[in-house]
Amino acid sequence: MRRWIVRPATRPLRGAFRVPGDKSISHRAWILASLAEGTSHLRGMSPGDDVARTRGIMAALGVEIEDLDERVVRVVGRGLGGLCAPAHGTLDCGNAGTTMRLVAGVLAAQGFDTTLVGDASLTRRPMGRIARPLRARGASIEGAIDPVRRDETAPLVIRGLRQGRRLFASEESLAVASAQVKSCLLLSGLFADGETSVREPTLSRDHTERMLSAMGAPLRTMGPVSQLDPRGWDGVLAPLDLDVPGDASAAAFWVVAAHVVEGSRVQVRGVGINPTRTGFLEALRDQGGGAAVVPKGEAGGEPVGDLHVGVGPTGALRRGARVAGELTARCIDEIPALVAAAAVSPGESRFDDLAELRVKESDRVAALAAMLAAFGIAHAVTGDGLTVAGGRPRGGAVVETHGDHRIAMAAAVLALAAEGETTIDDVACVDTSDPGFAAILRGLGGDIEVRE
Ligand code: S3P
Repeated sequence: MRRWIVRPATRPLRGAFRVPGDKSISHRAWILASLAEGTSHLRGMSPGDDVARTRGIMAALGVEIEDLDERVVRVVGRGLGGLCAPAHGTLDCGNAGTTMRLVAGVLAAQGFDTTLVGDASLTRRPMGRIARPLRARGASIEGAIDPVRRDETAPLVIRGLRQGRRLFASEESLAVASAQVKSCLLLSGLFADGETSVREPTLSRDHTERMLSAMGAPLRTMGPVSQLDPRGWDGVLAPLDLDVPGDASAAAFWVVAAHVVEGSRVQVRGVGINPTRTGFLEALRDQGGGAAVVPKGEAGGEPVGDLHVGVGPTGALRRGARVAGELTARCIDEIPALVAAAAVSPGESRFDDLAELRVKESDRVAALAAMLAAFGIAHAVTGDGLTVAGGRPRGGAVVETHGDHRIAMAAAVLALAAEGETTIDDVACVDTSDPGFAAILRGLGGDIEVRE
């Protein structure tokens, strides 16, 4: 088992660097470049295992993909009607919920059978939320039944549509804001004979909508409602020429680290600053901290900027965090990083509406509570809320990641402020999103040792 030994920071973190390409945007780029007509060039795609799963599946469906160099990949799109049955009908999504839920939307509209499988963590995650609306539009998709949750899970068995059949129109009002469910429905909607309309309680990350629009799909959005109507459309998605922005979720750990270690000055360059992803900056700003955002233009319909921490008006955390409702949805993947910040903030922090966090790569509410307990930080879990009392993390903590990359990275950041050495067990999961995490921390002056 791979583990990290992280020692307390003895000097401020210093550095200017880039984080890997955005994971969410990269998944969508693999899928939509595969469905485009013509050749796409994608630069700076996420190097993590999750996104490699989506790439592997598109290649298995007959898409020609070539690495031109370390940064640039060429994808020869097959058009909406051009995917082929894979040689082996079973497609492995690994740990990646985004792969499974988005790819299911495409496969549900094909004329061949497939089965989507995943690792133990992904196999526990709820899939009824995509299977039910896909069935309602005429797809044949069946999951296994989780006896505890009474929900469908992977493996997902998808039967091809009979020749000449298309998916029906779909109008869904989602119970929870979910970009994966929304994207699954919009992607399946490319192949439908009527309109797809998705309404969310609050707007989740809108990368699919932005990319579809940039490629010429007939999509309209109004706040948390998106509508795709392919009637009268020629069915042609233009190829992409895309520089993938840096991953805001990866950047969040460094922004928090710069608050955790006093006196730090960190610049994260070329980060995606789509407002559906930057809720964590608002949460930190409310605490007296945050980052100065220097806009650097657009890439593929996505705003990009540099994040500067420890310079200008941003300062130390002066009070606890308040994260709830719509803000929780806009920093859903950054809650682990924000909890690490809360653990060293003066005053009490409160996180609410965390129900979705229980069905991520781990039950993150439970895993974060266990992390705080290991560091000796007072906290309480009440229903779907978490209260954290700021303090000084004790030394000698042993943190279990539960196979969850974001728990591993949150613990590593918090360990920088601990009274002694921290051991973080089972960190191979970090490769799903940011294989270079330990190297960046070392580059900033942190002391992190990897033991196999
Ligand atoms: C993602 C959507 C979110 C997020 C996940 C990536 C995406 O999940 O937590 O890490 O790329 O669409 P939900 O759609 O389940 O909220």
